[in-house]
Amino acid sequence: MEGNMPRGLENIIALESEITFIDGEQGILKYRGHDVQSLSSHSYDEVSYLLINGRLPDKFELDSYSKKLKQERVIGDDAIAILKFCNFNIEAMDALRTAVSYMSHCDPELNDNSAEANVNKGIRMIAKFPTMVAVFSRQRRGLDVIQPDLSLSHGANFLYMLKGSKPTDLESRVLESDFILSADHELNPSAFTARTIASTLSDIYSSVIGGLCALKGPLHGGARMAVMEMIDEIGSPENAERYVMDKVSNKQKLMGFGHRVYKTYDPRARVYKQLAREIAIESGNMLWFDIAEKIEEIAYREFVENKGKPIYPNVDFYSAVVYKYLDIPPKLATAVFAIGRSSGWIAHCLEQYSDNRLIRPRAKYVGPDLD
Ligand SMILES: CC(C)(COP(=O)(O)OP(=O)(O)OC[C@H]1O[C@@H](n2cnc3c(N)ncnc32)[C@H](O)[C@@H]1OP(=O)(O)O)[C@@H](O)C(=O)NCCC(=O)NCCS
Repeated sequence: MEGNMPRGLENIIALESEITFIDGEQGILKYRGHDVQSLSSHSYDEVSYLLINGRLPDKFELDSYSKKLKQERVIGDDAIAILKFCNFNIEAMDALRTAVSYMSHCDPELNDNSAEANVNKGIRMIAKFPTMVAVFSRQRRGLDVIQPDLSLSHGANFLYMLKGSKPTDLESRVLESDFILSADHELNPSAFTARTIASTLSDIYSSVIGGLCALKGPLHGGARMAVMEMIDEIGSPENAERYVMDKVSNKQKLMGFGHRVYKTYDPRARVYKQLAREIAIESGNMLWFDIAEKIEEIAYREFVENKGKPIYPNVDFYSAVVYKYLDIPPKLATAVFAIGRSSGWIAHCLEQYSDNRLIRPRAKYVGPDLD
């Protein structure tokens, strides 16, 4: 605390929202009143519809929404060329940000801020994010671009466009669940950024691009990539003890642990851990899961038992393990997170536009008094 001002706006209620409920003490997360654990076995299209429209769709509504999303999956040759022009050493997240910005130039509804136009633009972004990430990744590897397969789900189609072969049923289900678990999280930094931009009545592309920029940071969605790199660096469960103890003794953060809101186990991490276990078993290689479980065991001993601090695995810990089993490279991780999170950002922007007041807090001046 600085005076009576909480640093980092901790625990400040900045606005009212009907989208997501979190109880950080009990470890409860609900989208529009539905528990996230139960939603994780739905399709991403259903949950995306839920976030944007406020309720789960009936069969007719879902068919029509899925059809619209599928029709919007393709990106033009000009966008493919832009993605080829990107520096191939960057994170996919940086390429995605560029591609979304370019996409906005081509959208005739760019500056139409009506609710209808904003939903249309939102659907286009949700549909095209996976294609953009897959196109960037394939071109970077010198491979041909694969066109979307409209018969596949959102998750299965992304894996198909990325790898060029159809994923297993389990891989498809796991990625759908990943997109759902990553889809929203109340007033997290990227949603708050997106809403702040929307509150100026700037367009929804600019707002979502702001969300992308905030998600990239290692204290937010960028932690997923850092966890993947940590697992590679550790290499075997036997090395986990030394790695974690080095972090603890050097007072460095252990990536994928701790949360501003959860003071107990992150409910998403629980589901991710189960998904990681299932996909590890299917792959016949338990190594990465075993390393992660060992890190968790040592971190629990050090943080919770020895220091009495509520520092548990967060959403980025076991999701990183899942990505390793899905053969998603670390430099793609934050962009894959963004694919899921796109629905949440759009829901937040729509809510902001629907009852807008400019978001403009104050700062307490502590600089020099020169006069
Ligand atoms: C997410 C995060 C930024 C939330 O942080 P915050 O609410 O600002 O909390 P603080 O960073 O002030 O941490 C509070 C205390 O817990 C400790 N702590 C928090 N997360 C920690 C971690 N991952 N590893 C080690 N210690 C941690 C801090 O060192 C601090 O200890 P202190 O009170 O003795 O100084 C923080 O937990 C973090 O940096 N985690 C790692 C990055 C990550 O996984 N991000 C994804 C979040 S979903």
